[in-house]
Amino acid sequence: MQIAYTIKEVREQVKAWKKEGLTVGLVPTMGYLHEGHASLIKKAVEDNDRVVTSIFVNPTQFAPTEDLESYPRDLEKDSRLCESLGVNLIFHPEPEEMYAPDFCTWVDMDVLSKTLCGKSRPIHFRGVCTVVSKLFNIVTPDRAYFGQKDAQQLAIIRRMVRDLNMDIEIIGCPIVREEDGLAKSSRNTYLNEEERKAALVLSQSIFLGQKMVREGETDAAKIKAAMTEKIQSEPLARIDYVEIVDGLSMQPVDTVKSPTLAAIAVYIGKTRLIDNFIV
Ligand code: PAF
Repeated sequence: MQIAYTIKEVREQVKAWKKEGLTVGLVPTMGYLHEGHASLIKKAVEDNDRVVTSIFVNPTQFAPTEDLESYPRDLEKDSRLCESLGVNLIFHPEPEEMYAPDFCTWVDMDVLSKTLCGKSRPIHFRGVCTVVSKLFNIVTPDRAYFGQKDAQQLAIIRRMVRDLNMDIEIIGCPIVREEDGLAKSSRNTYLNEEERKAALVLSQSIFLGQKMVREGETDAAKIKAAMTEKIQSEPLARIDYVEIVDGLSMQPVDTVKSPTLAAIAVYIGKTRLIDNFIV
């Protein structure tokens, strides 16, 4: 497995693979890989002849008040995992390799990026769309893999690829959970013991909403109220949002029908966690 730090190295390697007629899958990540990332990589290895994983904590998707500096990093451990899963190349650029000092071109999106996480993190999706477009231009993959846990991100990337006619297949992969239900996230490492227990309220609220839908409830307000009440029962939890939206446009709906997304963002102490389910 190769680790490339420059765009030039990646381009040369991918060019050589394409010359041989090999397909390329890309798994974009910010590192500190867990089983959620591993599931994306496994799928990419299954689907493609060669797999590139990018490990880049993208500064442009963090607001100045957010956790860019403290975001967990462990390239050595990530490399071992990638190698064991069959990744062919890790792309691990420095921010300076990705962003020139006078960088001023952005990929931004209306509508879908204005609700849910976009409301509380107004510059986040502009940074995500920009860096993912850059990674797509650098790696030129046939397929790219994203987790359903970041459901709004996945919907936005699908829309960006459609709207900008990018010739890349976007594959969404299911949420991977801890045994007790907590969705896997690199940010779970911020939680102390007490907060880790309290964080279970997110998945409990998701499972409750899912159960109501399974039992035939279609009134979004009722489901939202029950999920909200569940989260509020945990003293350490502070709700950022509990929303039920159309699964494609990310706009609020009154009635649950396919595809609908129920999504939550909740602070446990200082740590902001997200979870969701799709109908
Ligand atoms: O989901 C993530 O880890 C990031 O938002 C992504 C897609 C790698 C872009 O930086």
